[in-house]
Parts: sequence; structure tokens; C-alpha cells
Amino acid sequence: MKTKSLWSLVAAGLISVLIVPEVNAAGDAEAGKTKFYTCEGCHGVVGYTNAYPTYHVPRLGGQHADYIVAALKAYRSGQRKHGSMLGNSATMSDQDMQDIGAYVSRFRSINVNLPVTGNAAVGQGKAESCGGCHGEDGNTTDANFPRLAGQHESYLVKALEDYKSGARKNAIMNGIAEGVSEEDMKDIAAFYASQKKGLTIVKE
Ligand code: HEC
Ligand code: HEC
Repeated sequence: MKTKSLWSLVAAGLISVLIVPEVNAAGDAEAGKTKFYTCEGCHGVVGYTNAYPTYHVPRLGGQHADYIVAALKAYRSGQRKHGSMLGNSATMSDQDMQDIGAYVSRFRSINVNLPVTGNAAVGQGKAESCGGCHGEDGNTTDANFPRLAGQHESYLVKALEDYKSGARKNAIMNGIAEGVSEEDMKDIAAFYASQKKGLTIVKE
């Protein structure tokens, strides 16, 4: 009966975040929770933005642990460039990254309602070719690819611009973003950001 009442609250939109246990051999989620403390000032604040250029700090809750680890390693090595994320990853061990990945991936959001400026309906059609890797609605279960559903529109556009300009390097995404116009980026980002089931901020 407990489960039933929880779901009725969810259905009523009163609860938007669930935390589900995810088995992750490499990382210790409890240790990750403690290690995530310094990250919360940005990744645990609703609507927090990067100062310049202005875009929303990415949502990490519900992201694949393996992708989180890969992203942190890319910042640490300097391959992916961002001032504060270099500072935050520089002294982290691989174990720290795995623990944090295990912790943040446990979050699930099932009732996101992010505001968007692009045309999400048009974006759905434009995002068709992305579904094979990121999942039709951006919620891929394949840990090789980041989830995009429920991610901030402005962050998704920024990521696509960085792939297109080559500022962010990835063999697959550099080639894909090359053919995506600025308008298409906005519409596709609006489509993923407006998924109700998706990523969330990390806050307990
Ligand atoms: C000062 C604010 C700030 C703090 C503190 C911070 N981050 Fe970030 N983080 C950002 C921003 C902004 C980005 C997006 C940077 C970019 O465009 O590459 C980001 C990106 C990331 C990404 C990549 C997400 C993706 O979808 O690719 C991960 C993973 C991450 N941060 C983890 C952490 C962890 C773990 C900590 C704590 C050890 C931390 N961050 C602390 C601002 C912050
Ligand atoms: C063949 C598989 C594949 C296809 C198709 C694909 N992607 Fe990706 N995408 C990836 C991989 C792998 C990454 C992680 C790259 C990295 O580590 O920087 C990624 C990363 C991204 C990111 C960054 C996510 C984050 O959290 O920083 C965005 C945004 C994105 N893709 C959008 C798209 C869009 C839009 C399309 C379709 C136009 C698309 N992708 C098609 C494989 C794919």
C-alpha cells in the first residue's frame, strides 16, 4: 500500500524525484555522497548558471555513472576545457570519480518541467537521427551514451556549439554537430529538455 500511495503522489505531481538503488560495482555511492559536497554549490542548486558565457549548469542526477567518470577524466586531463571543472577534477582520483558517478546516477526524475524557448515539437523530428544512441526520448539505457532527457536547453545548445566549433572534442559528436544549424540545435535541445522523465539536479 505504501508504494501505491507514493505513486498517487507522483501522479498528482507532488513528488518529482525518486531515488532508486543502482548496482555499481566500481563506485561506492555512500562515499560519493560525501565527496559530492563541494559540487552541490553549483550542481545542486535549481536554475544555477555558468557566469560567462551564460548557460545552465548541467544536471547530473540520473546520468550514467560511466559517462560521469569519462567527463571528469576529460576535464582532469584538460582535453575538455572549463575553468571551474578543471579546478574541481584536478585532485580527484579515479576512485573519487567512480564513487561520485555511483552516487549521482541513483537519482531519477519523473516529473521534470523545464522551460524551453525552442520549438520542441519540431525538434522531435530533427532529433530522429540522435535516438539510436541517446534513446528516442533522450533516456538511453546504454551507458556508453549520455542521457539528454531533462537536461537544460541552454546547456545542450552550448554542448552542441562546442562540438561544432571543435572546442569540445569527440570523434562522433564533432562530425554530427557539423551538420546541425543553430536553429536546429535550439529545437532539438527544446525537445530533450521538455521530456518529463529525465535528468534532475542532485539534492537530497
Ligand atoms: C562553480 C560551479 C561548479 C562546481 C563547484 C562544480 N561544477 Fe561541474 N560543471 C559546472 C559547469 C558550468 C559545467 C559545464 C562545463 C562545460 O561546458 O563543459 C560542469 C560540468 C560537469 C560535468 C559534465 C556534465 C556533462 O553532462 O557532460 C560533470 C560530470 C561535473 N560537472 C561534475 C562535477 C563534480 C563531481 C563536481 C565536484 C567535485 C563539480 N562538477 C563541481 C560547474 C560546476
Ligand atoms: C553514434 C552515436 C551518437 C549519435 C547518433 C549522436 N550522439 Fe550525441 N553523443 C554521443 C557520445 C558518445 C557522446 C559523449 C561524447 C563526449 O564524451 O563528449 C555524445 C554527447 C552528446 C551531447 C553532450 C551531452 C552532455 O551531457 O554534455 C549532446 C548534447 C549530444 N550528444 C547531442 C546529440 C544530438 C542532438 C544528436 C543528433 C543530431 C546526437 N547527439 C547524435 C553519441 C552519439
